[in-house]
Amino acid sequence: MNAVTPQRAAAPAPVGLLAELTHRCPLRCPYCSNPLELDRRSRELDTATWQRVLTEASDLGVLHVHLSGGEPTARQDIVEITQTCAKLGLYSNLITSGVGGALDKLQALYDVGLDHVQLSVQGVDAANAEKIGGLKNAQPQKMAFAEKVVALGLPLTLNSVIHRGNIHEVEGFIDLAVKMGAKRLEVAHTQYYGWAYVNRAALMPNKAQVDQSIRIVEAARERLKGQLVIDLVVPDYYAKYPKACAGGWGRKLMNVTPQGKVLPCHAAETIPNLEFWYVTDHSLAEIWSDSPAFTAYRGTDWMQEPCRSCDRREKDWGGCRCQALALAGDAAATDPACSLSPLHAKVRALAVEEAAENPPDYVYRTIGSNVRSPLKEEAKL
Ligand code: SF4
Ligand code: FES
Repeated sequence: MNAVTPQRAAAPAPVGLLAELTHRCPLRCPYCSNPLELDRRSRELDTATWQRVLTEASDLGVLHVHLSGGEPTARQDIVEITQTCAKLGLYSNLITSGVGGALDKLQALYDVGLDHVQLSVQGVDAANAEKIGGLKNAQPQKMAFAEKVVALGLPLTLNSVIHRGNIHEVEGFIDLAVKMGAKRLEVAHTQYYGWAYVNRAALMPNKAQVDQSIRIVEAARERLKGQLVIDLVVPDYYAKYPKACAGGWGRKLMNVTPQGKVLPCHAAETIPNLEFWYVTDHSLAEIWSDSPAFTAYRGTDWMQEPCRSCDRREKDWGGCRCQALALAGDAAATDPACSLSPLHAKVRALAVEEAAENPPDYVYRTIGSNVRSPLKEEAKL
C-alpha cells in the first residue's frame, strides 16, 4: 500500500474543477482573466484525456465541474465531455458567451444532462456590450441563447463583469436578469490580473461609482428576495480586506488549462518559478497533493507579516497571490488590496488616479498575437 504523504493528508479534497477546454473564443473582452499567452488549438487535450481527467476528479471528491474557456462550445466534443460529467454524477456548469455555435449545441447538451448555464453579458445596451466584447451582433445571439436555456428549464446565471465602461448599467443588468428569467446574477467588479491588468486604466471605475453600484445591488436584493439571487464581487482596490482568492490557494479548486497544465488559480502562470504539473504526466490526485505549484502557498506557513499574525489569515488566506505579485513584486506578500498591507495606500491612490483620467482605448486580445507582459514592463508600486 502506498504511504500517504503528510501533505496529501493535510490537503482537503477539492470541490470544484475548472475545465478550460479551449482558449478559442469569439469575444475579445478587455478584462479576460485567461493568461497572456493563450494555448493554440493544436495543443488542446483530446476527448479521451478530458474524460480520464473528469473520472479522476470524481474519484478525488470533486462535486462541480465548470466547463469553461475561451468558449467551451467551440470544442466539437463538448457534448461528449458533458455527458461524461453526467455519467460520473458531477454537477456540470457551462460557462459560455452564448455566441458562435453555443445555441446550436444547447439542446444536445441538455439531452445528455447538462445541469446549469452561466452566460456572460458584457452590457445591457447592445452597442456598448458589443464594443466591450469586441464582436458585432453578439447581443441578439446572447438573448436568443438565454431564452432557449430558460425554455428548456435549465437554471440560468447571468455573469456581468463590471468596470467603468458599464458600471452605469448595473440597474439594467438586474432588470435584464429578471426579464430573462435568470435565477442568479453575478455583479462581479473586474479583478485586475490577466488581460484586465493590461487594460486597468481603461476599466477602473471611481469610488463613487463603485459605492453607487453596491447600493443598487443591496436595494435590489431586498426587492427581489425569492426571485433573483445577486452575487456581488467588490473591486479589490477599493475593499478593506481582500477576498479569499480561488477559495484559498490549493484548498477548493483545480484549474486545468486547454493543454492540461493544472493551476491553483486562473492567473497562477504569471508567478515566475512556480512548477506546474500536467495531467498528461501525473494523476489529478498526485497534482493536488504534491505538485509544487499547489503546495507553494497552501495553508499559512508561507505567510509574511502582517498576514502571519493576522486573525483573518484562515478567512481570506492572505488574498490573491497573483495580485500580490503584480502590485508588490512578491507573490508571498500580503495582497496590497488589504488595508493592512503597507502598500495599500499606494494601491488606492493608483486606482483613484487612473479612474480620474480619461479612459484609454481597450487593448483587445486575439489568440497568437504578440503579447507584451505588463508585469515585465511596468514598475511595481
Ligand atoms: Fe487577510 Fe493578510 Fe490582510 Fe489579514 S493582513 S486581512 S490575512 S490579507
Ligand atoms: Fe491567482 Fe488570485 S488570481 S491567487
